[in-house]
Amino acid sequence: MIPLKRALTSTVGRKFVMSISGIALVLFVIVHLLGNLTLLIPDGGEAFNKYAHNFESLGVALYVIELGLLSVILLHVAFGIIITLQNRRSRSKKYDEHIQTKGGPSNLSPFSKNMFWSGFFIGLFIIGHVIHFRIAKIFTAEKTMINGEEVTDLYAMVLEAFADPVIVAVYVTASLILGFHLRHGFWSAMQSLGAMKPQWTKGIYAIGFFVAFVLAIGFIALPVFLFFIQL
Ligand code: HEM
Repeated sequence: MIPLKRALTSTVGRKFVMSISGIALVLFVIVHLLGNLTLLIPDGGEAFNKYAHNFESLGVALYVIELGLLSVILLHVAFGIIITLQNRRSRSKKYDEHIQTKGGPSNLSPFSKNMFWSGFFIGLFIIGHVIHFRIAKIFTAEKTMINGEEVTDLYAMVLEAFADPVIVAVYVTASLILGFHLRHGFWSAMQSLGAMKPQWTKGIYAIGFFVAFVLAIGFIALPVFLFFIQL
């Protein structure tokens, strides 16, 4: 077995951590979008509040899950920074369209060249987003009753946020950047994990595009829809 230190300091090891943490985050984002789609049900927010309440009912287990999620995000960010610095140092000139990698074409595109910056903006968005909803809810959320049980009215918070066109614009922009990041990230993760036989390239590219497109459209649709139903 490769010692942990070597795995984390070698390029292959770092890319492995980057890929696994990236895939875990994509899974979180898919689950997050599916849960948030309950915002579209015209029931005054009951389904969404129930969904959020189910998580709150997990008690300590929820904090453990959140800590796990935070660790994966931090791992992904830290290794992203390390890999970017390493790439810059090892290349005397900047990315050039003709660079070829051992495993085939390195697939340089505006998506791949801007992974650091797209990741940076997504990071900023997540910090703002978590403060805006997850942390603010502890201090400002009202309560509402569902089937005789008192629950946090997270729906009212989300609705109020998306009545503001500036906030809607921030979410739409962040979702587009997320789509760009995932478009290349998925492909890159598959390549790092060795799941890229030449005959699979097109298929994996198509799956990456599909995942990125569906997630971006889903996250754009929610704030836009909630904005227009309040006009
Ligand atoms: C329309 C778009 C979105 C809506 C309406 C939304 C809604 C929410 C809400 C209401 C919470 C607080 C949940 C709770 O306290 O129970 C939350 C947490 C969170 N969201 Fe989003 N979100 C959106 C997009 C995103 C995107 C695009 C990302 C990631 C790129 C993201 C990442 C997170 C994270 C990391 C948390 C903290 C999870 C936790 O600590 O439990 N969200 N979101």
